[in-house]
Amino acid sequence: MKNLIIANWKANPVTLREAVDLARKTELAALSHRTVEVIVAPPFPFLIAVLSELKRVKLGSQNAFWEDAGPYTGEISWQQLKSLKVSYVIVGHSERRIFLGETDEMVGKKVRALLEHGLKPVLCVGERERASHEVSETIARQLEAALAGVKKSLLKNLIIAYEPIWAISTMPGSHPDTPENAFQCNIYIRKILSGMFGRTAGQSVRIIYGGSVNANNIKGFLSGGHMQGALVGGASLKAEEFARLIASAALLRTR
Ligand code: PGA
Repeated sequence: MKNLIIANWKANPVTLREAVDLARKTELAALSHRTVEVIVAPPFPFLIAVLSELKRVKLGSQNAFWEDAGPYTGEISWQQLKSLKVSYVIVGHSERRIFLGETDEMVGKKVRALLEHGLKPVLCVGERERASHEVSETIARQLEAALAGVKKSLLKNLIIAYEPIWAISTMPGSHPDTPENAFQCNIYIRKILSGMFGRTAGQSVRIIYGGSVNANNIKGFLSGGHMQGALVGGASLKAEEFARLIASAALLRTR
């Protein structure tokens, strides 16, 4: 399986021109490294323009509403995104949970709607703080709430991003997790999934790591197939660095 590298641009860049330029450069980088799968998740206003720059790179979005259409001011539905060729949708990012009040219940509705309609949710889970080397129970709670009622047969389209909040580059005092700790969480996540859906299903879901991933540390996370990809914020906004990150990821295969 190829590693999955997802560029989460968040509310960046400011202008359409910059977004198109970044998309073009990302596409170029991905074109020369075919052993890695690259997804770009731009802000909503730039989706169409970014899409027109992409061939190899797939389009993602940073959120989606669970209904197909209707009286939901300010929301963007999964169906609208699907019509724009969005295939991956980031769901339950900690910034949405913390700053926009997104609850486990809302995250669950989004995950179910996306899976049922053939989209690929990238479900973000992660703890605020880590006491010593313990894996946090927050992760279990988030997974159980988001995946309750999901049909086992749809799990092949699910991606889980383990993204500890304290590791996100814009958090004060942040630092990346170690590959060893991230792998411990990967094992823990698989244990929860196996408990919910059975061992085979639990082992097959793709799990990626997010939190201060850059061109220099990506190798550590992907080595040995410990993580099957990365969710990349800050470093995905720097075209040159992101190209190096893609090149590095392309050299490593997942389990
Ligand atoms: P970061 O962001 O790579 O800048 O830490 C990752 C994310 O929040 O998705």
